[in-house]
Amino acid sequence: MSRSAHPAGPRHADVLPEGHYTAPPADLNALDPKVWAHTVTRDQNGVVNVGGIEVTRLAEEFGTPAYFLDEADFRSRARAWRTAFGHDADVFYAGKAFLSRAVVRWLHEEGLNLDVCSGGELATALSAGMPADRIAFHGNNKSETEIRTAIEAGVGRIVLDSFQEIVRVAHIAQSLGKRQRVQIRVTVGVEAHTHEFIATAHEDQKFGIPLAGGQAAEAVRRALQLDGLELIGIHSHIGSQIFDMSGFEVAAHRVVGLLKAIRDEHGVELPEIDLGGGLGIAYTSDDDPREPHEIAKALSEIVTRECEAAKLRTPRISVEPGRAIVGPTAFTLYEVGTIKPLDGLRTYVSVDGGMSDNIRTALYDAEYSVALVSRTSDAEPMLVRVVGKHCESGDIVVKDAFLPSDLAAGDLIAVPATGAYCRSMASNYNHALRPPVVAVNDGGARVIVRRETEEDLLRLDVG
Ligand code: LLP
Repeated sequence: MSRSAHPAGPRHADVLPEGHYTAPPADLNALDPKVWAHTVTRDQNGVVNVGGIEVTRLAEEFGTPAYFLDEADFRSRARAWRTAFGHDADVFYAGKAFLSRAVVRWLHEEGLNLDVCSGGELATALSAGMPADRIAFHGNNKSETEIRTAIEAGVGRIVLDSFQEIVRVAHIAQSLGKRQRVQIRVTVGVEAHTHEFIATAHEDQKFGIPLAGGQAAEAVRRALQLDGLELIGIHSHIGSQIFDMSGFEVAAHRVVGLLKAIRDEHGVELPEIDLGGGLGIAYTSDDDPREPHEIAKALSEIVTRECEAAKLRTPRISVEPGRAIVGPTAFTLYEVGTIKPLDGLRTYVSVDGGMSDNIRTALYDAEYSVALVSRTSDAEPMLVRVVGKHCESGDIVVKDAFLPSDLAAGDLIAVPATGAYCRSMASNYNHALRPPVVAVNDGGARVIVRRETEEDLLRLDVG
């Protein structure tokens, strides 16, 4: 996930430390639209605005740290995915990236479906009115209760992840007098070019049933025999934060190979194929993600070509983007606290959040950008590491970046592209209070997930 070190760096050090930075940007006040939500601009006073509101006002009203989510941007990205895939394909937003009831309502209004992977996500989706038949239920170890709740609710599909689950879901469906629509998730043996922890289609990991050794074909055999199941398709998810379409190409080729084998053996042409999510976004100016229409075109061409070669009817395609929809739509706003220059190394800038609101840097060595947003500055760039307030040295939010050297306590800085897997993976480490998510739209701002309070923490502590 990291670029190579490129010594062009800090003006305050003669010898450059190891790092993942490139040269400081020509203009530290500029906001690269690739990494910021659509409505983010800097006004004539130098203050960054989102949805027409100054971040200084947002900080006063909602406090820091906080995630600010650009609702118009979210809706337009969701719509772009929906229209790119048209009527012959389905887009399931992956709720694990970030889910709240407001988000569910926006998705519903924009015509998207929803992928959930736990009872909690399912409850959120249903409570916000997502029709059950537009929900896909995932997970490598779904509990009996989760399966029963999902089937009773009438979810559109359950994605089966193991041999045990094939039997378990069939039994529960039958006991409820239902026939559940299911897909089987297979591992196609692709090494996706991404961080090991978020690559999911190589064989040596916990998800899916390997195509290798005929295991997936055997799973299909069993599923087709069970009355409680209606097998509608095959599912493959190769990983996350992927830019290179070749992994999807290999996955589609292998999944279509399985569809062909199923047709040859059982005389059944499964009507659906799900290629999962995983499309990358720009965290820094060096990342170049593809547009949804390019992705849709590439995927449908791949599947059509593969099916023509196999003399199969082209199945209905579905995809499950999470990060690509919500990731770029939010930023985290922090207040600067302690600033510690370490001579010859870099300057440590502490903020009022940290690994409890963004674990991705510590977990995946993820890269982020950062900007001073409460004012502009013409000061020289300084190489910084933005760190949190937690009790460990790995508590890093932005590993290597440049901020103006006149940065001072009380300034507001923002880290863009934190809409996905930041609030959803937030923790209470050190009894931190998880920050709120505030939706900003057209001059208005409203809390969609409120800030945790000490009362919330103490309420769970019943000893
Ligand atoms: N479908 C399935 C079956 C998945 O497992 C995932 C993500 C997605 C779709 C959505 O992937 P996306 O389009 O958001 O990349 N916590 C990690 C990412 C883990 C992704 C898990 N599954 C991160 O922060 O990078």
